Amino acid sequence: MPVAVVVGMQWGDEGKGKIIDLLTEKADIVARYQGGHNAGHTICFDDREIILHLIPSGIFRKDTFCVIGNGVVIDPAALADEIRRLEEMGIDFENRLMLSDRANIILPYHNLSEQESENSATRRKIGTTGRGVGPSYVDKIARVGLRIGDFSDADALREKLEANCREKKLLLKNVYNKEFPDIQALTDELLQYREILLKYMGDTHAFLRKKIAEQKNILCEGAQGTMLDVDHGTYPFVTSSNASAGGACTGLGIPPTRISRVVGVVKAYTTRVGEGPFPTELTCGSGDQLRTDGQEFGSTTGRPRRCGWFDAVVAKYAIGLNGIDSMILTKIDVLDQFDTIRVCTGYRHRGKVYDEMPADIGILENCQPVYTEFKGWKQKTVGIDSLNDFPDNAKRYIHGLEDLLGAGFMIVSTGPGRNQTIRLQEIF
Ligand code: GDP
Ligand code: IMO
Ligand code: MG
Repeated sequence: MPVAVVVGMQWGDEGKGKIIDLLTEKADIVARYQGGHNAGHTICFDDREIILHLIPSGIFRKDTFCVIGNGVVIDPAALADEIRRLEEMGIDFENRLMLSDRANIILPYHNLSEQESENSATRRKIGTTGRGVGPSYVDKIARVGLRIGDFSDADALREKLEANCREKKLLLKNVYNKEFPDIQALTDELLQYREILLKYMGDTHAFLRKKIAEQKNILCEGAQGTMLDVDHGTYPFVTSSNASAGGACTGLGIPPTRISRVVGVVKAYTTRVGEGPFPTELTCGSGDQLRTDGQEFGSTTGRPRRCGWFDAVVAKYAIGLNGIDSMILTKIDVLDQFDTIRVCTGYRHRGKVYDEMPADIGILENCQPVYTEFKGWKQKTVGIDSLNDFPDNAKRYIHGLEDLLGAGFMIVSTGPGRNQTIRLQEIF
């Protein structure tokens, strides 16, 4: 049963793209299970840096098949644009990409209503990526969404869209005093993408079931991170889908009994983009140093990422929630220049210390982190590919994290490139 789920253990941007591209060496299939083009997964090889938003991070390995599952929400224009970019790069994936006919789509009015709700004086700003992802999931759950499969019949699609738009038009006008785009023009625009969507559309669940029976190696690619999960993250400052490992079952139609491994990707410090609590955030010079040395700017929106120390409460929560049995540490090299490195082991709030993740974000917003300290190594580790070549203090930091988390790392990443990697254990 070689089906592995790769999940981010923090608030996203842990380096999932690099790691999935790396693990894909031995994977037959990479399947994305949730999120939309809010994700930005960076892959570096042959002196190139490519950011993928919707297409799975296995696309650069010519023998790997890529699946976009039913749990993903797809903006047809964004997908077409990404496909065109990859084609221009000379990547041939004509016969190795499949989109679920059950995946919901993002429409221009989703972006509009998201902008309005983010700017509304009566709602708390989430700091979304502004891609219409949340409103598309709202329509999915409200059972009024359009799906990729609806493109099969252009007339039926037109009718569904018109019925949908009538209600959205009233909503935009009456709640936000905004004009709705012309429905005819919207439909015509959408139908431009019909050919490309139908070209790649398929029954991804049936495909994956067959491949599981054939014992193929399948990597399920998560977007965002555990703390952005709509159920288990820092609600309401989360994304609108299940980024945690359970999302792989619902978002691909893979039964829980077929998942054989859950791989957690965690950065050697913490970042988050957008609003919401972040107990170990550093608003001083150290935060700026992490941002500069780690190039912490959003892969999707370019926003500066908020930076802070490693939070072991978050990481332990991610391990338990996802059932992580293999961990990968990324960006250790970004800590090279620090004299002292801190790791949070609990949250002190009103005289009590929490070492489990509280549901109440008020605690996270107002707590003081309890820290343990590690000595820095003040030496370059970028690109080191063997643990033996690591400075002693860097090894102490890695083993210190392992002790705190009660689990070992199978890979330690020391740079964005494929070879800038220490492999300690294989997953397939
Ligand atoms: P993802 O969303 O989890 O795929 O992560 P992003 O691609 O948004 O952000 C991770 C960033 O860190 C990208 O720019 C990667 O190229 C880079 N990166 C990944 N691993 C390492 C590493 O070990 N060291 C350094 N310095 N950069 C890394
Ligand atoms: P990857 O896959 C980091 C954040 C947004 C915002 C919140 C909700 O690259 O790790 P949304 O547009 O999803 O409704 O925004 O979630 N967010 C991410 N932060 N990495 C991501 O993806 C993110 N995708 C969404 O900044 O705080
Ligand atoms: Mg990212």
